[in-house]
Amino acid sequence: MESGMTAPHLFVVFGGTGDLMRRKLLPALAELQNRGQLGERHSVLGVSRRGGHDDNSYRTWALEALAEAGLSREDLSTWCDTSLHYLQIGEGALQDYQRLADRIAEIERGNDLSGHRTFYLALPPAAFPSTITGLGETNLNRGPVETRLVIEKPFGRDLASARDLNELAHRYFDESQIYRIDHYLGKETVQNLLVFRFANPLFESVWNRDRVESVQITVAEHLGVGSRAGYYDKTGALRDMIQNHVTQLVSLMGMEVPGEFSAESVRHEKVKLLKSVSPIGARDMVFGQYTAGAIDGDKVVGYMEETDVRADSATETYAALKLNIDTWRWQGVPFYVRSGKRMKRRVTQIAVTFRRPPVWLFESVGVRDMHPNVLLLTLQPDEGFALFLDVKVPGEPFGLTTLPLHFFYDEAFEPIPDAYQTLLLDVLKGDQTLFVHAEEAETSWELYGPLLDADVRVHPYFAGSWGPSEADDLLARYGHVWHAPVDVANLHVPRSLPDSR
Ligand code: BG6
Repeated sequence: MESGMTAPHLFVVFGGTGDLMRRKLLPALAELQNRGQLGERHSVLGVSRRGGHDDNSYRTWALEALAEAGLSREDLSTWCDTSLHYLQIGEGALQDYQRLADRIAEIERGNDLSGHRTFYLALPPAAFPSTITGLGETNLNRGPVETRLVIEKPFGRDLASARDLNELAHRYFDESQIYRIDHYLGKETVQNLLVFRFANPLFESVWNRDRVESVQITVAEHLGVGSRAGYYDKTGALRDMIQNHVTQLVSLMGMEVPGEFSAESVRHEKVKLLKSVSPIGARDMVFGQYTAGAIDGDKVVGYMEETDVRADSATETYAALKLNIDTWRWQGVPFYVRSGKRMKRRVTQIAVTFRRPPVWLFESVGVRDMHPNVLLLTLQPDEGFALFLDVKVPGEPFGLTTLPLHFFYDEAFEPIPDAYQTLLLDVLKGDQTLFVHAEEAETSWELYGPLLDADVRVHPYFAGSWGPSEADDLLARYGHVWHAPVDVANLHVPRSLPDSR
């Protein structure tokens, strides 16, 4: 987040030929290079176990990946030729890391780099421990100037494994060197939650139990598990989406005002908020699994029919929870969260429903319906926000309608950069604000850990729906309904806010 140039550096990616490198990291690095933000002196070293490349063939592979991402320009070919390097690390024995150290020294010498190094673990989680140990045991954890370690998600699969991973990482690296990724934090609209709240006192003054009736967070995906069932079937929605991405949104919506805009203060407030969430009871959670259905009119198979799903799988592809935040600000205001695959639309939206007027003045002129004001923050797609207000319909008879005041990113700004561009740049600058602190990762697992072992029924829902009806019942018990996510792209035409599906 901080501005300032990046120092000459070496960026080492473990998983250098993997999917994340191909789809996200390389395109992000290329865009940063294009904008001149990588600095003049830098090199990228892709490291992989499987091998099959030398520097030249790796550069060709990279260029193909960039073309797939829609980035195929002459200057990128030069960039690949001068900046990309490759090393096969073998099975990861200590001598392999020694070879890595030698290669790093050679690249740094040859390119006049000063010793700033980033090690990015774009690896399956099972490979995190051996890689961290390999780096540590060959003293690559402390380079000549500054060394940073980036760890992709998932960070652990429960409290015990997250603690073990933190402990191992801390054996070799200081917390100030460690960057745990949650790519939601790199999304512009997610960062904007801090600005929306803390730069606009108008909202901050109503951001509390006196004025807010409920907060709903929906992270709905259109896609099913596709080819990822091998990973997903052992993971489920609670681990894959709720414990990390959705919880980040809860923290940013609920946290107190930090003392200053620094990594330490922001992350401290997020941890405080998470520690204030009451334990979640079984009656406040609903799990679902999609069955065959239709997405945009096309038939799709159910989860159990997806390749690599176990025959008896009870993995949840949908989770809805009610969270209670036990603070002066939020006591009594439910935070409803839900996330699912194969839902009706791809949308990440937060709805803040404000309390209704204490006395309804317009019943005497025949208007019975009292709508609450609702603030909708749409994080993706069609990024923007809308504040729904009641307005008198001109003329007679006296009537009200609900209309939005709205703002769209695409009307105000250039296309939004991908989250990985933001996050990589922050790593290179050494700004940890948008990364998950060790304590935050553990606190989140403390909250959700007990649910992982709970005996919860997994309810079926049709692919292409908004999830199981039991999730409606959950809210109904507290007198609420899910806001059908609003198609903000259509807000250009004034319309009233639907308050149920
Ligand atoms: C990943 C999850 O972290 O986030 C995926 O593992 C999910 O299952 C993805 O599809 C969603 O990210 P985005 O940026 O597309 O909302």
